[in-house]
Amino acid sequence: MQIEPMCHIRRLVHFVFVAGTTLAASLPVAAQQKIALTPPMGWNSWNFFHCKVTDMNIRQQAQAMATNGMKQAGYVYVNVDDCWEGQRDAQGNIQGNERFSDMKALADYVHRLGLKFGVYSTPGPKTCAGFTGSLGYEQQDAAQYARWGVDFLKYDLCSARNMYKGEEFPGVYKKMADALRATGRPIVFSLSHGDNNRIWSWAAGIGANMWRTGGDIQPRFNDISHRILLQQGLERFAGPGHWNDPDMLEVGNGNLTADSNRLHFGMWCLLAAPLLAGTDLTPVSRETLEILTNPEVIAVDQDSAGIQGRSVWQEGPLSVWVKPLADGSKAVGLVNNGESPNRITAWFRDVRVGDSVEVRDLWARRDLGRFQDSFTAEVPTRGMVLVRIKRVAL
Ligand code: GLA
Repeated sequence: MQIEPMCHIRRLVHFVFVAGTTLAASLPVAAQQKIALTPPMGWNSWNFFHCKVTDMNIRQQAQAMATNGMKQAGYVYVNVDDCWEGQRDAQGNIQGNERFSDMKALADYVHRLGLKFGVYSTPGPKTCAGFTGSLGYEQQDAAQYARWGVDFLKYDLCSARNMYKGEEFPGVYKKMADALRATGRPIVFSLSHGDNNRIWSWAAGIGANMWRTGGDIQPRFNDISHRILLQQGLERFAGPGHWNDPDMLEVGNGNLTADSNRLHFGMWCLLAAPLLAGTDLTPVSRETLEILTNPEVIAVDQDSAGIQGRSVWQEGPLSVWVKPLADGSKAVGLVNNGESPNRITAWFRDVRVGDSVEVRDLWARRDLGRFQDSFTAEVPTRGMVLVRIKRVAL
């Protein structure tokens, strides 16, 4: 099944219009897209805590996010990844395990901070870490999430991997998408299906807001630079409400340098990727926080046009990426994956912004002045220069 997302929605909306009230389930697919008109921003437990996460960890991270500037910068979802799931009660309702004894109380705590709460499950019987999955309980789990006040569900392939043929997966995920919408609660639906079955070509059509485009991210430069390249060609599948997801952020994890963290974060923004921080926020270093909260860089990610940036030039380890923005300006990334500093030139004919432009450095938040025909910068080793280029008004 290959559904171009926006066409699919338009068809559904049209059909509802024509058919009157008979298709009550159809219109909410479009409503689902409105939950994530810009790429979701928040924090997820997996990249730092993995399976050791506890209720207390989540509360502390939420508290930190609410007070360290991240909430003001736009981060809102606090998501528990795998390893919270316990058994089902006598009625079949999923419960948290001994480290998550009261999921409703945890959701309430997060909400009281003015934030939103997310959980994780799988369409298979077991999650990737071997905990209880949603197979056969999709509606009951969605209803339970809604009772708890869940705002975000990450739904991960895991044990469903070998249960279905490729063409069956849209239907498998649609079951949960429909169940979530049936609760009437706006819940962001995030799929984790790797790069299987060209998921980007059908995920929005079944009601997903974002979908992973590859395997698990690692806090290593080569992993990050490689997955950036894998986003090329997927631009047309992303847009307001539905996003390609190169995976959660590793900014602040491992041994990434500040320049590489800037490249990682800046490229996620150029790619209009969801921004789910994955580092320990209790406390977080000033350097990591400055990267995660730079308002002008985040504005590139959250731009209302929702266009995923693309590479317009590449030579060896050097490349230039462009993301058109709603006001007609362009965010331009000069990316150096090399082992030494390099000069990179962005030609305005490639950027398509006119010959005479104004350039602003988004990391430094500084105007660099007027430029004719091209802009050249010295780009640090495994780093990136990110600018906003605006045609000079005549
Ligand atoms: C998979 C996902 C990860 C994480 C783990 C949890 O590997 O891709 O992001 O959710 O499962 O077990």
